[in-house]
Amino acid sequence: MSRNLLITGGAGFIGSHVVRLFVNTYPDYRIFNLDALTYAGNLENLRDVEDAPNYRFIKCDITDEVSINRVFVENGIDAVIHLAAESHVDRSIMDPLGFVKTNILGTAVLLNAARISWKDRKDGLFYHVSTDEVFGSLGETGFFTEDTPYDPRSPYSASKASSDHLVKAYHHTYKLPVVISNCSNNYGSHQFPEKLIPLMIHNIRHSKPLPVYGEGLNVRDWLWVEDHARAIDVIFHHGENGETYNVGGFNEWKNIDLIHVLCRIMDQRLGRPEGESAKLITYVKDRAGHDLRYAIDASRIERELGWKPSLQFEEGLEKTVDWYLSNEEWIAHITSGSYQEYYQHQYVTR
Ligand code: NAD
Ligand code: DAU
Repeated sequence: MSRNLLITGGAGFIGSHVVRLFVNTYPDYRIFNLDALTYAGNLENLRDVEDAPNYRFIKCDITDEVSINRVFVENGIDAVIHLAAESHVDRSIMDPLGFVKTNILGTAVLLNAARISWKDRKDGLFYHVSTDEVFGSLGETGFFTEDTPYDPRSPYSASKASSDHLVKAYHHTYKLPVVISNCSNNYGSHQFPEKLIPLMIHNIRHSKPLPVYGEGLNVRDWLWVEDHARAIDVIFHHGENGETYNVGGFNEWKNIDLIHVLCRIMDQRLGRPEGESAKLITYVKDRAGHDLRYAIDASRIERELGWKPSLQFEEGLEKTVDWYLSNEEWIAHITSGSYQEYYQHQYVTR
C-alpha cells in the first residue's frame, strides 16, 4: 500500500535514521519530514537522501495547529510516525514547560489533525515513538513489560507519559488507529553530544573532564539506533492497532562501566597510553531525581513481529566512536549554537 507518510522530528538523532531507512526502502511512499529544527535538529543528518524523489522536508513546529492541519490536508497525509520531541532529561529539569508544550501539546495537535482529516477512514495510522522512562525506575532486578504501570518521574518522562495517554485516549474515544512503542536508550551516529555516549566521546577527544553523575552506578539498556529504526519499520507495518511494543537491547550497563569501555576504545583510536582517557573521569553532583535502572523486556516484539537487536554492543560503540572521530565538522556545526552556554552552568564537582 502506498502511503503519504508524515515523519515528525526527522532531522533529529533517531528520526534521521528512520527517515533514511524509509526513503531508501519504500520508493512508493511520499515521505514528509516535518521538523522545527530546534538545537537538536540538523538537516546535515539527511544530506544523502535530501534529493530523493520520494522525500520532502517541511519546516514546522508541531504546536502550530493551523500549519499542522494544513500539512495534513494539502499532502493527503494518511500515516504518521511521530518522533518530534524535547528529548533530554537534564534540559527538562531546567525547562519543564518547554517539554510540556512540545511533547504534550504538540502530540495533541498532531492527533487532532489526524482525527479531523481522517474522519472515519480506518486505513490511517498514528505511530507514537515513546520511551521506557514512562515506566519509572527499577531496582536491582526485574524488567519493564508492556503491562508495567506508568510511573514517570522526570518532567521529560511525565511529558512523554502524557503524550502516550493522549494517543491511547484518541484510540479509545475516536477509534483513531494508533500504535505506540517504548524504547530504551539509543546510541549511534548523529546523536547530539549532550547525551551520555556522544558527550563522553567529545570530551575524551578534547581531553575535557568526563562528568559522571553521582556514583556512576545507574543502569541503562543500550540499543543501536539503526536497530531501533528497524523496529519502527516492523511495528509500523505489522504492529496491531491500539497496541504498544517495548523495544530494547537486552544490553544493560552501569554508566561507569560503559564510560571505561569508551575510554579504552578512545585510547586505542587516539594512540594514547592505556588508562590515559579514564583519568578524565570526574564525579559530579547527581541528576535530580535520577532514575536508578531501566531494563526492557523486549520479548513481545521478538515473539510476535520477529524483531531482535542485530549488533553486539562493543562493535556498536566502536562504530559510533569512529563516526564521531571522522565527523568533527558535523559536531562543530551542531554545537555552534547555545551548546557552550548550556554546559558552562551544569556541573558541580563532588
Ligand atoms: P532529538 O532531540 O535528537 O530530536 C528531536 C527532533 O525533534 C529534532 O530534530 C527537533 O528539531 C525536533 N523537534 C523538537 N521540538 C519540535 C517541535 N516543537 N516541532 C517540530 N519538531 C521539533 O531526539 P531523539 O533522541 O532522536 O528522540 C526522538 C524521539 O524518540 C523522541 O520522541 C524521544 O522521546 C524518543 N526516544 C528517544 C530515545 C533515545 O535514546 N534518544 C529512546 C526512546 C525514545
Ligand atoms: O531510556 C530512554 C531515554 O534515554 C530517552 O527517552 C531519552 O530521550 C534519552 O535522552 C535517554 O535518557 P537518559 O537520561 O537515560 O540518557 P542520558 O544520555 O542523558 O544519560 C544516560 C545516563 O548517563 C543517565 O544515568 C545519566 C548519566 N549521565 C548523563 C550525562 C549526560 C552522566 O552520568 N553524565 C552525563 O554527562
